[in-house]
Amino acid sequence: MKITFLGHSCLLIQANGKTIITDPFIRANELAKHINVTDLKPDYILITHAHQDHTLDVEEIANQSKTTLISNWEIVNYFEKKGIKGHPMNTGGSWNFDFGKVICTLAHHSSSFADGTYGGNPNGYILEVENKRIYIAGDTALFTDMRLIPLTIGKLDLAVLPMGDNFTMGIKDSLIASDFLECKTVLAYHYDTFGYIKLDKKLASQTFSENEKNLILLEIGQSMNL
Ligand code: NI
Ligand code: MN
Repeated sequence: MKITFLGHSCLLIQANGKTIITDPFIRANELAKHINVTDLKPDYILITHAHQDHTLDVEEIANQSKTTLISNWEIVNYFEKKGIKGHPMNTGGSWNFDFGKVICTLAHHSSSFADGTYGGNPNGYILEVENKRIYIAGDTALFTDMRLIPLTIGKLDLAVLPMGDNFTMGIKDSLIASDFLECKTVLAYHYDTFGYIKLDKKLASQTFSENEKNLILLEIGQSMNL
């Protein structure tokens, strides 16, 4: 599985011959000017919640490829009205797609579209692909039910956690999240895009290494293999 960071909460995941993009927000991201949205033709777009910094480029990307949206009922309905097909899920549910299994988990945040439309509850997702299991937390606070993930679903190979603080967890809480998740390898996202969420990367790396955890901070456009 290859994971490329496209800035903010947008990941491009290539696995089992399929491409999945999470929370596309590229055109309005000053830090991601070198990423060409027109080149992106994913098989799936996975959306954690309706906020604009997670959905802005959904229509553009979906209209240039045969994409299926995966998100909650409300978000899939919203985009189906715009002619984009989707697979609706909701918290606690799982589904086997052609690239692997997706499990829809809790997130503690809010979820509304820029036009005020209700976006349902925010979610995180677990992806089981190519014998690996990754948790994509979405925008969330720390919550103790994260402990249920290794207990009920199994061992994680990677946890993707928001780390920019202000709207989500910050460094300290994401470290505790990795304890709850029993996952030593963390990929940080949702930082630096706006003034509110500047991440002290040195402090973050130091905090994780002092606790014998592996924090991955990718440059925008940079990839990792799992
Ligand atoms: Ni949000
Ligand atoms: Mn956000």
